[in-house]
Amino acid sequence: MKKKFRVKISPSILDSNFAEIKKTIKILERAKVNYIHFDVMDGNFVPNLTFGPKLIKPLRRLTKLPFDTHLMIKTPGRYIKDYVKAGSDIITFHFEAAKNPAAVIRQIKKAGLKAGMSIKPKTPVKKILKYVKDLDLILIMSVEPGFGGQKFMKKVLTKAKILRKSIDENKYKCLIEIDGGINTETAPLACSAGVDIIVAGSFIFKSKNPKKTIADLRKSVERCRQ
Ligand code: DX5
Ligand code: ZN
Repeated sequence: MKKKFRVKISPSILDSNFAEIKKTIKILERAKVNYIHFDVMDGNFVPNLTFGPKLIKPLRRLTKLPFDTHLMIKTPGRYIKDYVKAGSDIITFHFEAAKNPAAVIRQIKKAGLKAGMSIKPKTPVKKILKYVKDLDLILIMSVEPGFGGQKFMKKVLTKAKILRKSIDENKYKCLIEIDGGINTETAPLACSAGVDIIVAGSFIFKSKNPKKTIADLRKSVERCRQ
């Protein structure tokens, strides 16, 4: 029998209260999320500045949840080793930020981690198709990277459909992740288009009851891919 498809959830802690990070991690564990998404921004590749490996590393011993690190930084190749040491399980860098994307993928995989590559809303998916066979994950940005709480861009769904087709036809193992503006309305659209992992930040952490919101999100995508 074919295994039932289940969408994976990767909450972004960007809009959570950092003073309560321990409590937040407990909530995420209880809600049985699949990953924790870390949004690393350098104030250069994107017009916002967040945190780096120093902040991620001490969280590593608080949980066994896989760390899904999203690097929105220039010249990512220079910093991969720092995010490996910080305890990441997946490192995703931006195609637009790397001079030699294939070399960055190799660097991440050589460290024994899963390698992800992300594209901004305006980057055509055809530019990255040749890398899919070597990747564990493709992250489609559904907002301009930089800030939480923006509106989902429906037009990126076409990219998910194209990638889904290519991955299935070629039997690649690469997962498709989507990030930006995800809520119970937009998550089913993304999953129907072929997405495997949804990232959600403000929808979860600006809600009164994050655990319930995660359950609502999961429910919203239950029937989107049979
Ligand atoms: C944007 C980040 C996202 C974002 C998600 O640059 O990569 O992870 O903060 O936040 P929401 O879900 O609020 O769009
Ligand atoms: Zn992100």
